[in-house]
Amino acid sequence: MSKFNTKKTCQYLLCFFVFVYISSLFILNSYFSGSNNDLEFSVSSQNLKKAHQINLIFIVQNIKNPLNNNFFSGYKNLKDSSKTQSYETESIRNMTRHAWKSYRKFAWGSDILRPVTKTGGSLAFGIQGIIPFTIIDAIDTLYVMGLNEEYLQAKNYISKLDESTFDVDISVNFFENVIRLLGGLISIYDLYGNINLKSGMHHSGWKPNLAEIGSNSLEFTRLSKISNDPKYAIAIKKSYNTIQNVLGKDLPIPGLFPQFLNVENAKFDRDMVYSLGANADSFYEYLLKFYLLSKKTDMQTSEMFDEASKSIKKFLIKTSKKNGLMYIPDGEVDNLNTVMQHLTCFAGGMFALSVLSGKSENPKEDTEVAAAITETCFQMYERQEAYKLSPDFVDMESEKLRGNREHNAYEQRPETVESLFYMWKLTADKQYREKAWKIAQSIEKYSKVKFGYTGIKDIYLPLESGNFNNQQDSYFLAETLKYLFLIFNDDDKILNLNEWVFNTECHPFKIE
Ligand SMILES: *[C@@H]1O[C@H](CO)[C@@H](O)[C@H](O)[C@H]1NC(C)=O
Repeated sequence: MSKFNTKKTCQYLLCFFVFVYISSLFILNSYFSGSNNDLEFSVSSQNLKKAHQINLIFIVQNIKNPLNNNFFSGYKNLKDSSKTQSYETESIRNMTRHAWKSYRKFAWGSDILRPVTKTGGSLAFGIQGIIPFTIIDAIDTLYVMGLNEEYLQAKNYISKLDESTFDVDISVNFFENVIRLLGGLISIYDLYGNINLKSGMHHSGWKPNLAEIGSNSLEFTRLSKISNDPKYAIAIKKSYNTIQNVLGKDLPIPGLFPQFLNVENAKFDRDMVYSLGANADSFYEYLLKFYLLSKKTDMQTSEMFDEASKSIKKFLIKTSKKNGLMYIPDGEVDNLNTVMQHLTCFAGGMFALSVLSGKSENPKEDTEVAAAITETCFQMYERQEAYKLSPDFVDMESEKLRGNREHNAYEQRPETVESLFYMWKLTADKQYREKAWKIAQSIEKYSKVKFGYTGIKDIYLPLESGNFNNQQDSYFLAETLKYLFLIFNDDDKILNLNEWVFNTECHPFKIE
């Protein structure tokens, strides 16, 4: 669930990684593209941009085309979901209304709202005021919560986008664009199946350049399914083949991949630095989810996930000496640090989902690991005395789980409530609702401002306006609020996990 940190250094690091990763997949896939012209490519940013535009145009065209109204599934209409009327779901709805209303008032059409200065803002990887991340990221949340009026506002906006919207001269961050924009559009297609987008689109003979999609397997496999065009899914399989058979061949630890690739020789770095945080997280998450999306038929990701799961438990998981809390640090296996990243908190949910879905080979152990990691992530909030909001990196050997290496920012991230959601689904133990409610209340109390919700630069400093990061990220609406709502939702018909799998931006895709 790699998200951009507002801190520049982090952005550059991630940018660098995404660039290296994508470039590598270009090169790797060229080995496998053979004589298939559709898959031929060369490494250039121009191609990347084109591929991205085509993919967005493609999905919009497919959404526009109401070929298959049967995608309208899960539950029949918006009213169904407003039946869930507990005090908690109503509160989360109110939070979402507050965030949305302020975005609409002050930042409509921008990537995000800057809630302190009441202006629109651009995300570093955004498309400067052209494709509004917040609207596309939030629309399925509005739909799922039954916020009819707000949903229609989003839908009307999106229905005015057309090919020219995406035909802009920009460079894009492929990863973030795919999980947020493509993921958001696919999920609303899956939920509703019938967004009537403006017609009259056609595009001029670009051949989609598919090599870079290896790390976006759910989105592109789903795209193949709903568009009846197998080429996206084929490219994904090729990427997984490369990853497993070429790159995975000489790994010192089965199933674990170091976080950086070497573009020169299409190999992983010599430094075997592992992580389930910023640069690697959704790779492992997608092995499991890809298998689930395939209706448990894809044996390749099944195997890769089993290996990864075993090795994570055997080589990476540590227990804090000072606090007795289980966590997953980063580093070489014989030289792991003592840091838990907030991003890594998705792992509790991943292990819980592996048990919940029947995938786990060792359900008892995996349930324990899922529960322990989730508890650690809850404590990352609970032990912060002032605001009970988690910093982005935590030093697990410090007395009170202090922010590590200046990473004291609260970034509105979803991974802890995500894991609480899966643990609640797995166990129906009320403690998970209570913990989620505590986090929701901390958000309400400390990150809410008059017009929206803001991140906090340093959770150990007073909440003055200079200490707000002035950013209401689109994933706050797409993920954090949606997971919170789903934790308190009692209606089985809404996004039942037997029928739906969430991409790494919490956009639900239909399993079929
Ligand atoms: C939600 O907001 C409405 C309108 O402001 C208010 O009347 C209601 O009490 C709120 N509900 C909860 C549970 O906060």
